[in-house]
Amino acid sequence: MEIPALVLIIITLSLSNVCPCFCFTAFIFGDSLVDAGNNNYLFTLSKADSPPYGIDFSPSGGQPTGRFTNGRTIADIVGEALGSTSFPPPYLAPNTSAATAFRAGINYASGASGILDQTGTLFIGRVPLTQQISNFEQTRSYMVKMVGENTTNIILKNSIFSLTIGSNDVLNYFQPSIPLFSDKVSPTLFQDFMISNFTIQLEKLYRLGARKFVVVNIGPLGCIPFIRAVSLNILGGKCSTKVNALVRGYNKKLKEELDRMNNNMGRNAIFVYANSYDIFREIILNFPKYGFVNNDGPCCGGYIPPFLCFKRTNSSASSAILCDNRSNYVFWDAYHPTEAANLIIADKLLNGDKGVCYPMNIRHLYDYII
Ligand SMILES: *[C@@H]1O[C@H](CO)[C@@H](O)[C@H](O)[C@H]1NC(C)=O
Ligand SMILES: *[C@@H]1O[C@H](CO)[C@@H](O)[C@H](O)[C@H]1NC(C)=O
Ligand SMILES: *[C@@H]1O[C@H](CO)[C@@H](O)[C@H](O)[C@H]1NC(C)=O
Ligand SMILES: *[C@@H]1O[C@H](CO)[C@@H](O)[C@H](O)[C@H]1NC(C)=O
Ligand SMILES: *[C@@H]1O[C@H](CO)[C@@H](O)[C@H](O)[C@H]1NC(C)=O
Repeated sequence: MEIPALVLIIITLSLSNVCPCFCFTAFIFGDSLVDAGNNNYLFTLSKADSPPYGIDFSPSGGQPTGRFTNGRTIADIVGEALGSTSFPPPYLAPNTSAATAFRAGINYASGASGILDQTGTLFIGRVPLTQQISNFEQTRSYMVKMVGENTTNIILKNSIFSLTIGSNDVLNYFQPSIPLFSDKVSPTLFQDFMISNFTIQLEKLYRLGARKFVVVNIGPLGCIPFIRAVSLNILGGKCSTKVNALVRGYNKKLKEELDRMNNNMGRNAIFVYANSYDIFREIILNFPKYGFVNNDGPCCGGYIPPFLCFKRTNSSASSAILCDNRSNYVFWDAYHPTEAANLIIADKLLNGDKGVCYPMNIRHLYDYII
């Protein structure tokens, strides 16, 4: 009763085409912190498609990819650490094949986007979270067409769904020039809008087959160079307590909401609360311990608005735009961390204790069997 070798070979071959069991598959949603190039294909003011963005990104030879940092994003680093051999490509890139979903996954993230659809209007083009999830729905339909509903669900239940979003909603709230929310709703109501809209999207992903979630909270936005500058805290180096208070309030509600969802779902799904706020705050407070020399200014683009970080064609001016040593800076530009900071944050999210990743870290989530 031996199974003919040829049959075994055929089974193995067809499984290796679809089965993600031996590789890391990630579906990435979020804003510029994890955008891997989607905004390159939009008409938008939120772009990272010119040097020196990407200067330390070796897969592109230092050319810009649309990532809003000098090197890898946190999502890139986490994927690599878990054995991913290629980064999930941007959904909007014309040469991205939906078939990549079976192997590496897809990146739907878009700079300037938020949980709320209106967020980022000033930047014109961006893909809001709701649209990112509709785009995933398209990918899923393709998967179902290729391998059927059941196999698709098996693949999705073993994949990691990460969501890094909310910073732009908060930044917009504090921009007085946007006649949207400021002075209209209280910070508490604004937090509640964010949470209830976010919850709807998380539940939608669950209905579409997602089971392993990493939900990254909002970092200490009051400490980014942009906010320090507009709050005129440049010289004092102080963070905006008002902005950080709103972020902390939101994060607390987010954790409670995820706790509630974990309780309701039992073992059917896991929502990991990734506490980037505390990790980032620790780096800013104790920066020398992590090898940084500068914790409050951008490596690229200068300290004062409009913080343009791009290489001027005029070579005499271009030398002034970059700091001497990119590993010495926490911030790459006025909004985004350097790869050096991303490496530390990613390491804590992967391997950290319950204080930074609750109820389990990303490495455990990856091994967890739903
Ligand atoms: C798709 O195009 C981008 C930009 O030209 C390129 O960097 C990337 O390697 C291409 N990807 C594939 C899978 O061909
Ligand atoms: C899909 O799974 C369901 C429930 O487990 C089962 O009833 C059905 O026969 C499966 N369909 C296929 C095509 O395998
Ligand atoms: C989502 O946010 C909007 C504000 O953008 C708010 O009006 C709406 O009530 C929220 N939706 C839910 C279900 O809370
Ligand atoms: C290039 O930079 C130099 C020195 O900053 C300046 O004098 C010159 O006008 C610039 N040229 C152009 C074309 O911007
Ligand atoms: C940049 O800084 C890092 C960390 O402090 C250090 O290890 C490295 O040697 C520096 N590189 C240069 C070119 O000075």
